[in-house]
Amino acid sequence: MVESAVQRGLEDVVALESRICFIDGKGGRLIYEGYDIRELAARSTFEEIAYLLWYGRLPSARQLEELTTRLATLREVPAPLRRLLEQVPESSSPMDVLRTAVSALAVYEPSESQPGANSIGGAQRLTAVIPTILGEFHRRRKGMPAIRARPELSHAAWLLYALRDKEASELESRAMDVALILHADHELNASTFAARVTASTLSDLYSSVTSAIGTLKGPLHGGANERVMELLEEIGTPEKAEEVVKAKLARHERIMGFGHRVYKVEDPRATILRDWSRRLGETRGDLRYYHLLREVERVVHREKGLYPNVDLYSGSVYSMLGIPKEFFTPIFAASRVAGWTAHVLEEYQDLRLIRPTAQYVGPVDLHYTPLELRE
Ligand SMILES: CC(C)(COP(=O)(O)OP(=O)(O)OC[C@H]1O[C@@H](n2cnc3c(N)ncnc32)[C@H](O)[C@@H]1OP(=O)(O)O)[C@@H](O)C(=O)NCCC(=O)NCCS
Repeated sequence: MVESAVQRGLEDVVALESRICFIDGKGGRLIYEGYDIRELAARSTFEEIAYLLWYGRLPSARQLEELTTRLATLREVPAPLRRLLEQVPESSSPMDVLRTAVSALAVYEPSESQPGANSIGGAQRLTAVIPTILGEFHRRRKGMPAIRARPELSHAAWLLYALRDKEASELESRAMDVALILHADHELNASTFAARVTASTLSDLYSSVTSAIGTLKGPLHGGANERVMELLEEIGTPEKAEEVVKAKLARHERIMGFGHRVYKVEDPRATILRDWSRRLGETRGDLRYYHLLREVERVVHREKGLYPNVDLYSGSVYSMLGIPKEFFTPIFAASRVAGWTAHVLEEYQDLRLIRPTAQYVGPVDLHYTPLELRE
């Protein structure tokens, strides 16, 4: 057997070339297609970002209008999928429902019969339909009537409407838009890698996104924002932050919303969301989450030297927007689908089956024992 160094978790392994997203882990910068996230979060919209990721350039005003209209017209869920959503147990995790629904969509809209399904058309369909899927399930659980199409709403406002059934203020829509911009892509994170692995076998776009949703669900990835809110509930008041956080660290538990495989300084998305958490708190006259999170940050940085990641403040922003906790990770998916699909399309352009090797550490010289002779 040839021995070679194992890079556990593929840490620092450069697996492919991509022009979609760049993370400067030491400088704390995030770049989409050449543009700094800080500028994009301050000035653009999610629709523009989706265009940027899919086409590699910012849209003209006409191209943006066309895309916005197209996304709005692709929101409808097919009737058989709606019936399926009526049947899943109400107690299901929304991420399980989303993964099942995207997978089922491929049954009702098979890529073989849809020209363009494995291209930007498919990416647009998936991006447009995810808020509707989430809204349908949310309403069903609440015993509310089926969702009514609102093509005049932006993607962010539609997502908010789907999960709340009430109009969003301009500030609320903008907060959601910024959150969607910030989550839209992040280089070869675990779920995007999963999507690219699936695509690299020449599998279809919907299968690739189904793989990605299952990967995003885990608490070390997209699931962390829900866990942050559980932590805040446990802590209760800023004065208790020190005691609760230190006790967790003493038990070698991870504090969700901190640390990152690539960033060695503060995640720029956390900086922007911290600001939004404060802004929304000030507007509501309730800075409880903000103060709690600042205190948790102080203790974790002092005790472990760790910086916040995107998940630390996103949950507080979504909570203040009136979204139930179990939909925080699905919101991540509603945004990251733009990045997943952009990466899948890039993979199709420069395809190479992704298939690493493992260092075998088991025996090689065992002999088969007939069943009747085994203990
Ligand atoms: C994101 C994450 C998985 C990256 O981990 P990684 O690159 O594999 O880093 P490691 O797991 O090797 O951690 C390195 C050290 O920092 C510690 N550490 C990392 N993140 C930590 C956290 N959130 N809380 C407490 N300790 C943490 C590890 O325990 C380890 O300490 P040790 O060397 O004493 O054992 C990790 O930081 C984490 O679990 N964070 C919490 C989950 C989260 O917020 N995920 C969202 C990411 S955007």
